[in-house]
Amino acid sequence: MLSQIWIVSALCAGALAAPTLTYSAGSAEKPADMKILSDYFQMLGKKIQAGKNMAVAPVCNLDNAKMPAASPTPLPDVTEGLFLKHVAIGRGTQNYTCDTKNATAIPVATGALATLYNASCVAASYPDLLAALPDVALQFNLTDVNQASLSPSNLVISGHHFFSNGTTPVFTLNSAGKDLGTAPCQKNAAVPAPAGTTKGQGNQGFGTVAWLKLTTRDGATGGLQEVYRINTAGGNPPTSCTGMPASFEVQYAAEYWFYAV
Ligand SMILES: *[C@@H]1O[C@H](CO)[C@@H](O)[C@H](O)[C@H]1NC(C)=O
Ligand SMILES: *[C@@H]1O[C@H](CO)[C@@H](O)[C@H](O)[C@H]1NC(C)=O
Ligand SMILES: *[C@@H]1O[C@H](CO)[C@@H](O)[C@H](O)[C@H]1NC(C)=O
Ligand SMILES: *[C@@H]1O[C@H](CO)[C@@H](O)[C@H](O)[C@H]1NC(C)=O
Ligand SMILES: *[C@@H]1O[C@H](CO)[C@@H](O)[C@H](O)[C@H]1NC(C)=O
Repeated sequence: MLSQIWIVSALCAGALAAPTLTYSAGSAEKPADMKILSDYFQMLGKKIQAGKNMAVAPVCNLDNAKMPAASPTPLPDVTEGLFLKHVAIGRGTQNYTCDTKNATAIPVATGALATLYNASCVAASYPDLLAALPDVALQFNLTDVNQASLSPSNLVISGHHFFSNGTTPVFTLNSAGKDLGTAPCQKNAAVPAPAGTTKGQGNQGFGTVAWLKLTTRDGATGGLQEVYRINTAGGNPPTSCTGMPASFEVQYAAEYWFYAV
């Protein structure tokens, strides 16, 4: 029972109390954004109610977590023999540059910077809440890359995500006093985000970054071998550089699933 309450309340701003939503007026005025938040808190409310009626607490066990498949085109399967080591919500920005001297230039991706929040227990127990979290988290900006918990939940930091060069996304899962490993990666496969996913935050409605399968490069630790980015929200640049500065960021959020030997 205790762990049941803990898991659900970890998804809620002020434990079981009514959460205080602190998002900018610009974002709050958008009906679509309000719907994302209201659906999420309704789902949370139902979990809390169901938890009160449960005789036995659910076990927070990653063996119970099942990664959703991209639709209509799935990503390649997880390599046989690997096990699910961690699930995180990533919240941050995708960075782009524009050649401002070229009238027909298109934005070029230069990397990403995101904070990873421990969502392993949510993945194990509440897949529907997990799937909602990237959209919900996109409605709230981080104050900095070390913001302790993911608004409007209390999920805590489990790592960071950045690029060490243009083609090497890196994940460090060594926050919160635990070291699950470091994963320098390369792209293995990409499929478009399913139609109908959130297009982006506020006036950054440029679309949603692809779902990805990444494989680790030399130097990976903790047995980490494959990383999936799924249930993405936002992050795409505009299709043209017209009116854009030489470098800019687009807010995004996603689920990251980490597999290891
Ligand atoms: C301008 O950008 C377009 C689109 O990326 C590219 O095809 C073209 O070669 C660029 N022109 C120059 C002069 O860099
Ligand atoms: C992305 O932008 C952030 C904020 O300006 C910056 O700290 C980070 O280094 C940039 N990342 C890349 C890969 O350019
Ligand atoms: C998030 O940050 C961006 C860039 O600083 C800003 O334009 C946007 O309004 C912020 N969004 C929210 C919801 O606070
Ligand atoms: C994630 O949270 C669970 C539950 O508190 C904990 O057992 C696990 O060690 C955490 N993982 C990381 C990487 O922080
Ligand atoms: C980027 O870093 C990776 C891993 O260190 C390395 O294998 C690759 O050659 C580098 N690529 C470039 C263009 O420097």
